[in-house]
Amino acid sequence: MILLGIETSCDETAAAVVENGAVKSNVIYSQIAKHAPYGGVVPEIACRDHVRKLPGIINEALADAGVCFDDLDGLAVTYGPGLASSLLIGYSAARALSQRLNKPLMGMNHHEGHIYSVFLGDEPPVLGGAFPMLTLMVSGGDTRLVYMKQPGHYEVIGQTIDDAAGEALDKGATLLGLGYPGGPVIQKFAEGGNPNAIRFPRGLDNRGKGWPYSVDRELCFSFSGLKTSLLYHLQNHPDVMTDEEKKRDVVASYQEAVADALASRVERALRKYDCAAFACAGGVSLNKPLREKLAALSEKTGIPLRLASPRLCTDNAAMIAGAAAIKLQAGLPFVMPEDVSPNLRLENW
Ligand code: KG4
Repeated sequence: MILLGIETSCDETAAAVVENGAVKSNVIYSQIAKHAPYGGVVPEIACRDHVRKLPGIINEALADAGVCFDDLDGLAVTYGPGLASSLLIGYSAARALSQRLNKPLMGMNHHEGHIYSVFLGDEPPVLGGAFPMLTLMVSGGDTRLVYMKQPGHYEVIGQTIDDAAGEALDKGATLLGLGYPGGPVIQKFAEGGNPNAIRFPRGLDNRGKGWPYSVDRELCFSFSGLKTSLLYHLQNHPDVMTDEEKKRDVVASYQEAVADALASRVERALRKYDCAAFACAGGVSLNKPLREKLAALSEKTGIPLRLASPRLCTDNAAMIAGAAAIKLQAGLPFVMPEDVSPNLRLENW
């Protein structure tokens, strides 16, 4: 089965072709340069750029895979969560194509794309043996731990109570004057710095009274204190911004705090839940110190770690078409909701 995937939920315009779940092409146009001057994604700019770029990206994805519209068995498109105006561009294009080509269309949850990205590659995905599985989902807008007894069964067992990890990196980079997006620029600048120079907070370590959330406090994240702590550190040590060496240590320590906060919750979850494998998905899963910590955790526990290949970590359409292929393979029908859903949550199959 050949599927065309389309993804425009935020600031990447992406299209991809998968055949029986194997990735045949994966074209991603990133709008980062357009948003960088503003230090974050500007929705109006994002959706207008999707309009400009999407037709060409779709043609490129088909050409790279060596197929044409007639060869497709169906389409898959992200209908949420994401920016409403951005989602609408991919969604409208996919609906129009589906009608014109008379091919079925599957509406996909962006989070499901990230979750199954760790199974995707040049060969058809094999899910057997990996469940029950724990996934750390970390991106610019999302930080949570999802436990899956089996494919399609999602239990959110931990989540951030304020900022997402990627947001902490993006905002931290802005405070440090390093540019946007924060994750890659922080990782690059931190090279050679001492990650233990400053002990930044790891979030929710002080056991205060009361906990209003239904999820286990030990498995939750908080990054807003970390960001404030960086701000105070820079205010109290103005020399950091002019002394390259000191700044490198601060940046490395800040990155270490984010990676450590993430990895420590994964470790706790692996102790509490029975897991045949654990995974990390989303843009922040590209982070080197985080990958190293998770690999060490895998070695220590003997539980296999699954990471997506770099082109499948940040937003892309191969994960959307690939996850659709996995659902169809499991016997689910093509389903296309009537509208986009900016706040879409994970739903069990
Ligand atoms: O999954 P993604 O493309 O989706 C969102 O748009 O949320 O993730 C983007 C996030 C950004 O916050 C970016 O700073 C972060 O992923 N990121 C990284 C790295 N590369 C991208 N964070 C840490 N280290 C990286 N190497």
